[in-house]
Amino acid sequence: MPHETIGESRPRAHGKEIDPDREVLVHTGGTEAILSAITAFIEPEDEVIVLEPAFNLHNPLGKVFSVEELLAIGNICLQHAIVILSDKVYERLYFTPSYTRIATLNRTIARNTFTVSSVEKAFNVTGWTVGYVIGDESPIKHVQLAHIILGYTTAGPAQEAAAVGLEEADRQGFWEANKQHMESRMRSICSILHKLGLPVKLFHVVTHEMGYALPPSRA
Ligand SMILES: Cc1ncc(COP(=O)(O)O)c(C=O)c1O
Repeated sequence: MPHETIGESRPRAHGKEIDPDREVLVHTGGTEAILSAITAFIEPEDEVIVLEPAFNLHNPLGKVFSVEELLAIGNICLQHAIVILSDKVYERLYFTPSYTRIATLNRTIARNTFTVSSVEKAFNVTGWTVGYVIGDESPIKHVQLAHIILGYTTAGPAQEAAAVGLEEADRQGFWEANKQHMESRMRSICSILHKLGLPVKLFHVVTHEMGYALPPSRA
């Protein structure tokens, strides 16, 4: 995917203008992006803190963290030299009035953060396997080395299509339209589950604020 497109669609991604050639890596989906970042930084015996339920446990949490919560997390990570891997694959699909990426809070936190995005999640096209990571030049080089071994490259035609999609989505107001579309589909599914007497509440313990998972019971 032309990296310039990502740079343009994220004018101030990490608290500054990003350099598309040095601070963006295209991956074979968010999954490979996360794997590359983990491979780059985690050694045997290292400790990893995962907010559960996490992605491979079905990600039903759907929580949007407030600025205050993100600042608290970011500062704790800085104090303890913890690298932040910010999985933002649903960054275009939030149902709250606003949405903050931790890497936009300030430059100190941004320097310590990798932000993972997924084109397939942004466009509801899981299977396209195009994603990307944004991070500062010096640390992201390590992710690039891992990516060369794990994924090497991502299909050129899919990258081109993704780039056109990102440009057109901004131009045509796709993000907002898609949010409304997906929210209405989720509400329809919930209402069907209610009619069938299935306890939608069981799938959700906290307020659903983003992503594909079902919202809490409105019954
Ligand atoms: C929270 C979360 N992160 C990452 C991924 C992986 O993204 P991708 O489908 O682009 O590999 C998923 C996929 O379901 C997900 O739900």
